[in-house]
Amino acid sequence: MAGAATHLPSFLFSLMHHHHHLLLLSLLLIATSVGIVHGLEEKKIVALHQLLWEDKSTSRISSPQRTRREKGATVMEIRHHSHYSGHIESYNDYLKKLLVSDEARVSSLQSQISNAASGEVYRDSLQAQIPLTSGAKLQTLNYIVTIGLGSKNMTVIVDTGSDLTWVQCKPCLYCYNQEDPLFDPSTSSYYQAIPCNSTTCDYLRAASGSTGVCGSDRSSCNYALSYGDGSSSRGVLSRERIDLGGTTVEGFIFGCGQNNQGLFGGTSGLMGLGRTQLSLISQTHDRFGGIFSYCLPTRLYNSSGSLVLGGDPSVYRNFTPISYTRMILDPQQAPFYFLNLTGVEVGGVALQASGFSNGKILIDSGTVITRLVPSVYKALKSEFVRQFSSYPSAPGFSILDTCFNLSSYEEVRVPKLRLEFEGGVEVNVDVTGIFYFVKKDASQVCLAIASLSYEDEVGIIGNYQQKNHRIVYDTVNLKVGFAEETCSYS
Ligand SMILES: *[C@@H]1O[C@H](CO)[C@@H](O)[C@H](O)[C@H]1NC(C)=O
Ligand SMILES: *[C@@H]1O[C@H](CO)[C@@H](O)[C@H](O)[C@H]1NC(C)=O
Ligand SMILES: *[C@@H]1O[C@H](CO)[C@@H](O)[C@H](O)[C@H]1NC(C)=O
Ligand SMILES: *[C@@H]1O[C@H](CO)[C@@H](O)[C@H](O)[C@H]1NC(C)=O
Ligand SMILES: *[C@@H]1O[C@H](CO)[C@@H](O)[C@H](O)[C@H]1NC(C)=O
Repeated sequence: MAGAATHLPSFLFSLMHHHHHLLLLSLLLIATSVGIVHGLEEKKIVALHQLLWEDKSTSRISSPQRTRREKGATVMEIRHHSHYSGHIESYNDYLKKLLVSDEARVSSLQSQISNAASGEVYRDSLQAQIPLTSGAKLQTLNYIVTIGLGSKNMTVIVDTGSDLTWVQCKPCLYCYNQEDPLFDPSTSSYYQAIPCNSTTCDYLRAASGSTGVCGSDRSSCNYALSYGDGSSSRGVLSRERIDLGGTTVEGFIFGCGQNNQGLFGGTSGLMGLGRTQLSLISQTHDRFGGIFSYCLPTRLYNSSGSLVLGGDPSVYRNFTPISYTRMILDPQQAPFYFLNLTGVEVGGVALQASGFSNGKILIDSGTVITRLVPSVYKALKSEFVRQFSSYPSAPGFSILDTCFNLSSYEEVRVPKLRLEFEGGVEVNVDVTGIFYFVKKDASQVCLAIASLSYEDEVGIIGNYQQKNHRIVYDTVNLKVGFAEETCSYS
């Protein structure tokens, strides 16, 4: 394909606003065809329109509960987490906070990866499909889906980097504010607390980052999860009937959280899609065969992608053929999905860096900004800056150190970014995943990728760079597939 004249879309970057308080970035696809490929240089022409607080003209309102059910799979709508209630600081402070919490997650992941103690490997499988949306309204840049728990609907963050699904439960010792009513076990006839002396409670002891202990009455199995940013959930391991995009699963094991704090925005909790026995994927293996996929939308508001549980490809729409790369298994790091990053191209130029010699990289739906080992980041930054040198630079912001002042441009030519994984799998990062708008007037627009501190840390592919792709996790055949899919329409 290199060198071929192709028609590439141009993109409108706009900012949006929610509840008259919260200003957020939205990167919006416009369907015009403008594009140029010069020899090795591959760039997209990106239109930087006046940044808006809200974009009403181009958005359509989607039904937040839309679900589809197809043979062997279930589909759920995935959205950005974007409810907001309460006090909000300036947009800048807000963005900074998001990146600080992202950084805290990354530190936590790094320490889990390096300190992995559990030698147990769980190989199980489950499947279901759920809509995913951006979590920006709920003050996170994570993605959310709505599931049925008992007879209630609960909106939870989609997290491939952890296992136990939990929601806030009555009676609360401490619960943060959430949008949905709290789950009340006493109103559900399907609810059961899991006994402490059960093997299920043993799984909990083995699951990453959590401990299973017997309650004071020696009957309940208490869990305690802590996330690196100081967020935590503690409560009682329980079973309940859940509904995943129209598919009912009985006796689903989840955490009934009675003491929950942290950066979960207004969501009800978290859905764990990691690899161990307690994850939703393992628990629904009989149903969905250990395969799930998602497409993350680029827009913050009123657009949705999907979380698909099950491997039936007919549920995906508008996608290119899926290319699969090997999932690297590390029994010491049970919940995580690792891939082998073998190369990166910037505007068609292949980067040279020592960091590709190992290449093990985590793919995570709960980390926002992609982190690269220093040697790879340095090469990327230098090539990107070289190709983007006609635009004035701007000061760095938080963890982002490669920034530009684009306030006087209507259009910019953005070098394409391509990730290459073992097996020759090439993934073109969506143009909306290349820049992070720090200032609404585009006077500080940063490359949305950050460096790790040490060469021996493990890189992470964050959700910002996963947008507009169908990403298929096949835990049976141990492979992860990528296809381009436009899932940001409403
Ligand atoms: C999103 O949809 C809601 C109604 O559901 C509407 O009030 C709001 O203005 C829309 N937001 C944008 C940015 O279009
Ligand atoms: C939960 O969502 C489903 C799917 O849209 C909807 O049919 C149902 O009425 C909702 N249930 C409650 C209790 O809100
Ligand atoms: C767990 O404890 C209960 C009550 O002490 C007892 O009846 C039950 O048999 C025990 N179950 C197992 C699997 O040991
Ligand atoms: C990644 O792939 C390269 C090239 O095939 C190989 O040399 C390297 O050992 C692989 N890395 C891992 C962690 O498997
Ligand atoms: C960005 O560039 C514009 C136009 O060149 C200039 O007026 C403005 O002062 C710059 N802003 C910053 C923050 O550097």
